[in-house]
Amino acid sequence: MTGAGGVGKTTLAANLGYEVARKGYQVAIFDLDPQGSLNVACRLSKTPAPKATTAWIYSGFFDGTYTLTPVWEKHVKKLEIYPGGSALFKVMPNLVQAGGSRLLQEALTEHPLPHDLIIFDCPATLEQIPKTALAAATHLLVPLVPDPKAIDGTRVLLDWYMSSVSELNLSPPPPFLGFVINNLEDGAEHQRLAKEIRPRYEARGYRVFSAIKHYTAFTNAWSEGIPLRVHRSTHPALAPLEEIAKAVIQEIQGGTSGSKKSARR
Ligand SMILES: Nc1ncnc2c1ncn2[C@@H]1O[C@H](COP(=O)(O)OP(=O)(O)OP(=O)(O)O)[C@@H](O)[C@H]1O
Ligand SMILES: [Mg+2]
Repeated sequence: MTGAGGVGKTTLAANLGYEVARKGYQVAIFDLDPQGSLNVACRLSKTPAPKATTAWIYSGFFDGTYTLTPVWEKHVKKLEIYPGGSALFKVMPNLVQAGGSRLLQEALTEHPLPHDLIIFDCPATLEQIPKTALAAATHLLVPLVPDPKAIDGTRVLLDWYMSSVSELNLSPPPPFLGFVINNLEDGAEHQRLAKEIRPRYEARGYRVFSAIKHYTAFTNAWSEGIPLRVHRSTHPALAPLEEIAKAVIQEIQGGTSGSKKSARR
């Protein structure tokens, strides 16, 4: 999640899901965005029936039926997508009612999935849906782009995190797995901002993963509906993606601090 749009949440969710799945782990990605971009990134139907989307979880009628569709099966065995889409707009009123923020967490507690990792791909705004993800998550992963607006946006995210954690009474609150600077360009301004971000976050005890540079290969892979590794198996952006996947796998295996089994976004 982030407090900003177009910073690479969906790109990261899809590619990270793929990287973890190719190591043999069972992965599901929940698209919690009314835009349903993940459907496009994975070449699924653009307009799934409301009951076949994550909106079903918030509908008040959820019966444990998660409509998970396997993707990229030719390349990886255990990666499934739970589509988002505009049906999420219709269930928004349910989320502001008492207990609405807990619906996703309750669904997964009452109807557990066998997956090693569930990734929640959140919409850009920090409203009700990300709050449900926060309540259900074991870890948070935050992509940010190196521009002053995004850095401000992250301050807003941290404020939102603190107040939501206390409102939801999350104890312990899900920790940040880390921050990822994405879309880093070679220009002097980007390099300066990236240099500034790292010590600032590390000083507050947050992990900052190796930056992911701007590469047209990401957009090309997206338009082909495939992950970056399938698009180009030796692409340099696979190294930072693998670094994040390693951190996730470490948490799946028990974590550095003995945290819960699944690591979620
Ligand atoms: N490192 C990168 N280099 C080049 N293009 C990138 C990179 N990361 C993401 N993109 C492109 O930027 C666009 C936005 O990315 P993406 O949809 O993942 O962002 P998002 O944060 O999920 O957006 P939204 O807030 O709309 O959900 C996409 O076209 C994607 O291909
Ligand atoms: Mg997105």
